[in-house]
Amino acid sequence: MINPLQTVLGQAGFGDWRDIAYLVAAICFIFGIKKLASPKTARTGNALAALGMLIAVVATMINLHVVSYTWILIALVLGSGIGVVLAARVQMTQMPQLVALYNGSGGIASALVAIAEYAHVDRGGEAMGASSLFIVGLGALIGCVTFSGSIVAAGKLQGKISGKPVILPMQMPLNIALIAIAVVLSLVLMLYPGAWWTIPLIVVVSLGLGITLTMPIGGADMPVMVSLLNSYSGLAASAAGFIIMNKALIVAGALVGASGLILTAIMCKAMNRSLANVLFAGVGTADSTGTAGRESSFGGTVKSADPDDVAIILDSAQRVMIVPGYGLAVAQAQHVVRELSDQLQAKGIEVMYGVHPVAGRMPGHMNVLLAEADVPYEQLLEIDPANAEIDRCDVAMVIGANDVVNPATRHDKNSPIYGMPILDVDKAQTVFVLKRSMGAGYAGVDNELFILDNTLMVFGDAKDTLQKVLTALDEV
Ligand code: TAP
Repeated sequence: MINPLQTVLGQAGFGDWRDIAYLVAAICFIFGIKKLASPKTARTGNALAALGMLIAVVATMINLHVVSYTWILIALVLGSGIGVVLAARVQMTQMPQLVALYNGSGGIASALVAIAEYAHVDRGGEAMGASSLFIVGLGALIGCVTFSGSIVAAGKLQGKISGKPVILPMQMPLNIALIAIAVVLSLVLMLYPGAWWTIPLIVVVSLGLGITLTMPIGGADMPVMVSLLNSYSGLAASAAGFIIMNKALIVAGALVGASGLILTAIMCKAMNRSLANVLFAGVGTADSTGTAGRESSFGGTVKSADPDDVAIILDSAQRVMIVPGYGLAVAQAQHVVRELSDQLQAKGIEVMYGVHPVAGRMPGHMNVLLAEADVPYEQLLEIDPANAEIDRCDVAMVIGANDVVNPATRHDKNSPIYGMPILDVDKAQTVFVLKRSMGAGYAGVDNELFILDNTLMVFGDAKDTLQKVLTALDEV
């Protein structure tokens, strides 16, 4: 049966209309990604990329080779249903593990496409070429590594698996041996197309490799690994695209592969670490709460303030910089922060936000939270402009941030986060640090900011504290 749409477009001079649809989809993906680079345009970018995917899916569905739509529809309804429920239920702080699970699903789907295509070798009488056979092996390898690595990453981020780095004896030689075995098996498949037994072996070796690559990574570095796995899932999709000769899949996979890699590099740069250091140095602990209590291991004196003191000092300030961190997300304090800054501005106080690129647990985490509370974009300052303003601020209000404001990164060569660019809040006249205890941040290191002369710790849940500050400000 000839598809009528294809006939009409064919007669209109479009050789293969599907190529044009895929081109439009690719343009949507590229402009969508470009728009994701700014919080202002990110929503439109997301919608544009989704539109591109819809075009690609519809163009693929209108396919002469589709014999029945029943299974496609079942998968569509099931997948969309699960997606809607997850999107509605998952907390912002759980987003990195959700992304990890999405990457894992993409990886295993691509591996299954590659394997299914091999199992279906007699594609209309054409046997699979040598290069396609090699790509089957490679697709299964990358897809399975992405799957098992993403499951481990999600388990660590969710606290189901210990977030501590687990470094096996002979870790590096083991990884290299597993990669070599999988590549050799792919070559065997290429040379001997009937060697089907290589497939289950590639799957087992690759699943193991995903685990051994991810287990040594500490909790703090897991978002970097998730971004890298995202890149792998793109490569696996591209490989699947080559096998089934679907141009949209090749392009979309390449874009995911490249953007995941660029994001990984941006994160490493923001932490002043090399990718090799992130992947193999085993930095970070699982415990973001650290040791509770008010004793500082530096031996200095910790000064604390209550919300009433905070309100009095804020009331007499002229310029205030708010520095949000992971704790803001945990406390879900973004709306009350917005209320506080509105109130301060109503008193004629200038308010700005200093946003560190790796504050929180995923790229853009703070931007998303603050956008949710309708904080104007103009008030958000990236690290360099924020640091240029900080010494002119009367108050720096650190809300649930820790590692990204640790001055030890500037001078303590023994610190695991030495060299990471930070927001120099210690240069403000007065620093308030809102957190529940003296506990460490995700990198598991003490923060000497807490014992500086101009720092006042305000202990408690960030949202509770801010609400009390708001009430106190009304009464000042
Ligand atoms: P962290 O250093 O992780 O510190 C967060 C602080 O929030 C904790 O010390 C915790 O102290 C406090 N907190 C938790 N719940 C709270 C609540 N309900 N109310 C008030 N405070 C609360 O956060 P950060 O400064 O945002 O730094 C992010 C870390 O993640 C960095 O080490 C960064 O390298 C790493 N990382 C981030 C990314 C991305 S892309 N964002 C990627 C890779 C790595 P208490 O327990 O005492 O309250």
